[in-house]
Parts: sequence; C-alpha cells; structure tokens
Amino acid sequence: MSQRPYVIDEMISAKSIAARIEALSHEIAAEFKDTEQLLVVGLLRGSFVFIADLVRELDLPVEVDFLEVSSYGDGMESSREVRILKDLRGQIEGRDVLVVEDIVDTGFTLSRVVSFLSARDPARLRTIALLDKPSRREVDVTADWTGFVIPDEFVVGYGIDYAQRNRNLPFIGKVRFPDEPQP
Ligand code: IMP
Repeated sequence: MSQRPYVIDEMISAKSIAARIEALSHEIAAEFKDTEQLLVVGLLRGSFVFIADLVRELDLPVEVDFLEVSSYGDGMESSREVRILKDLRGQIEGRDVLVVEDIVDTGFTLSRVVSFLSARDPARLRTIALLDKPSRREVDVTADWTGFVIPDEFVVGYGIDYAQRNRNLPFIGKVRFPDEPQP
C-alpha cells in the first residue's frame, strides 16, 4: 500500500510507560482486592501490548478475554459508528470486569463498549485507557484510570497503528508529515 511519507517523533518513552503501568496496577489491585478473579477485557487490536504489560504487573488472579471493535480503518478519523466485530468468549454476568482501551479520542468506542457490556449485568465494570485526548471528545465519557493525557496529535506505537503500521514500536510517537507546514 502506498503511504504519504511521514516521520515519527517520540512522545512517551518505553520507560515512562512501564513506570506509569506499575503505578496504575497498584491502584487497580487495591480496587479489586476482594475479587475472586478479575476479567480483563482488551479491545482489539490497539490494546494488545498494553494489556500484556498491564496483566503482568497486576498482583491479582486474572482472566483475559478480547473484544474486537471497528475503529478508524486506514485513516486518521473516527468512523463514529462503532461495530462489535468479535464478541467475548465467556459470560460476564455477576463478574468484575476491567476494559482495557488504547486511546479515548472522540469517546464513541469506549461509551459503546461500556453500554454493550453493562447490558450483561457485570458486578463491576471499570475502564482503563493508556492515552486520553480530551480535546477531541464528542461523547461524555472518561476511563476510570488513564495512563497519559495527550494533546490532539495522531500517535502510533506500543500497539497503536497508523494504517496497520508501527504497532511494534516500544514507545508512543507522534506522526508528523514533513511536507506539511509546522505551526
Ligand atoms: P474514539 O472512538 O474516537 O474514542 O476512538 C478510539 C479508537 O480510535 C482507539 O481505540 C484507536 O484505535 C483509534 N485512535 C484514536 N486516536 C488515535 C491515534 O492517535 N492513533 C491511532 N489510533 C487512534
């Protein structure tokens, strides 16, 4: 696939991400300390690296499941219409559930997923997002835990893609087009 040339500037280092996940894992473990087995639900595909690091820091009995939702396609804009492409394998009624999202941008995805899962009567449903871009919000939703609040920049790395590329970068970087005038 041909792609307009772009460069990636590091925004959040792998070390900062690891330190933040460690801190968040203590807060989450405290919240769910009486839970028999926490069901951690990753939203595919962007959260796969985050969930892998998060569950290894969580000092709790956990089970992992995944939900796949439609997102940006190959562009840089939210489709706003969020479809469930792959449902969970297990039941969540009466269970404690933590939804793991990569980025909350317009908020359509997280709010749709929360309503979709709440309808199944989990005991507790909490959410965590690695990144939050509050300036882009169109739906009033905030994750219960957020790794980093970032400005309105298109980012890649640490599981997050641009047209399916750059998910394997160990850090979060912002995409920049050298042929565009800088502000
Ligand atoms: P929302 O529904 O607009 O909140 O968008 C959430 C989804 O859009 C995220 O889970 C990402 O998959 C995608 N997304 C939002 N911002 C970015 C970005 O800066 N880079 C790559 N994907 C993004």
